[in-house]
Amino acid sequence: MLTVLFAAKDERWPHYRDPLARAIAEAGIVAQVMTKADPALVDYIVFAPNGPVYDFAPFKRAKAVLSLWAGVEKIAPNPTLRLPLARMVDPGLAEGMVEYVTGHVLRHHLGIDRYVHGLRDWSPAVPPLARERRVAILGLGELGAACAQALAALNFRVSGWSRRPKTLPGILARSGEEGLVRTLAEAEILVALLPLTAETENLLDARRLSLLPQGAVLINPGRGAVIDDAALLAALDEGRLGHATLDVFREEPLPQGHPFWGHPKITITPHVAAETRPETASRVIAENIRRGEAGEPFLYLVDRAAGY
Ligand SMILES: NC(=O)c1ccc[n+]([C@@H]2O[C@H](COP(=O)([O-])OP(=O)(O)OC[C@H]3O[C@@H](n4cnc5c(N)ncnc54)[C@H](OP(=O)(O)O)[C@@H]3O)[C@@H](O)[C@H]2O)c1
Repeated sequence: MLTVLFAAKDERWPHYRDPLARAIAEAGIVAQVMTKADPALVDYIVFAPNGPVYDFAPFKRAKAVLSLWAGVEKIAPNPTLRLPLARMVDPGLAEGMVEYVTGHVLRHHLGIDRYVHGLRDWSPAVPPLARERRVAILGLGELGAACAQALAALNFRVSGWSRRPKTLPGILARSGEEGLVRTLAEAEILVALLPLTAETENLLDARRLSLLPQGAVLINPGRGAVIDDAALLAALDEGRLGHATLDVFREEPLPQGHPFWGHPKITITPHVAAETRPETASRVIAENIRRGEAGEPFLYLVDRAAGY
């Protein structure tokens, strides 16, 4: 019998206990899933940050660490981790992100705030059609590509940017520094869905934010530290950017007293854009355990050198 350690915050366990047991049994694996176990006896570690495990050295016989999170910046640099690390690619997570991103893009595209906050006189403002609106997505991975395709299906003119060149039907995909400059220059609405790595930290600094069209809107459900906070505040306060919708922050929870709180041009959502869904995510974890036991390559392995 295998031993699977569930190493996440205690509050997650009741949500995962049954779905994980079910998914593992359905994958034909005999395993006990535990929240505490002798490290020397653990075969697989299901991991989320802020749980009980920081030092992976005592897990001598473990075959892999299976992250419950898509973003792995808190575990990828851990020097004690010498095991394969798989990140979470969960259909439920991607669906949630598509809904968040399309919802917030449509809010800004249609100018919904004008009506939500209450009109004072009869002053119609007709928005352009989506086919006339340019939306750009930084990061064309599992989540960015899904959002790009959903927005393209609504007729938006979608461009995107990734580290390596990519082809996506209906999307103008670019890479490299010149590709970034061109992507930013045409982004009326910019969605950042980048992982946090050494290369992406502070990527959206004052210089790059200044490339966006006048009045552009920024939506960031990726990682907070991809944006230089002070440069963003300056761009909003000087009227160069129209609005920022932020789901992720350098420090979470966003500290009381942070200038983002209460800012008239910033919408804060508390890291709710997309949550890993226990039912679908458990099947992904179980499939990776099955692969490990069958000697097949793991799915969604993290490139530790690239950081994601
Ligand atoms: N707010 C939330 O609730 C929430 C939920 C889940 C995830 N997230 C965040 O969303 C991020 C993206 O998730 P994902 O599953 O889509 O990740 P992913 O599949 O690994 O995709 C990452 C994308 O970013 C690109 N990229 C990475 N480094 C880059 C660089 N230096 N320059 C240009 N492009 C770069 C990658 O390029 P290549 O295609 O060339 O590799 C890829 O297209 C996660 O890392 C996490 O931080 C947030």
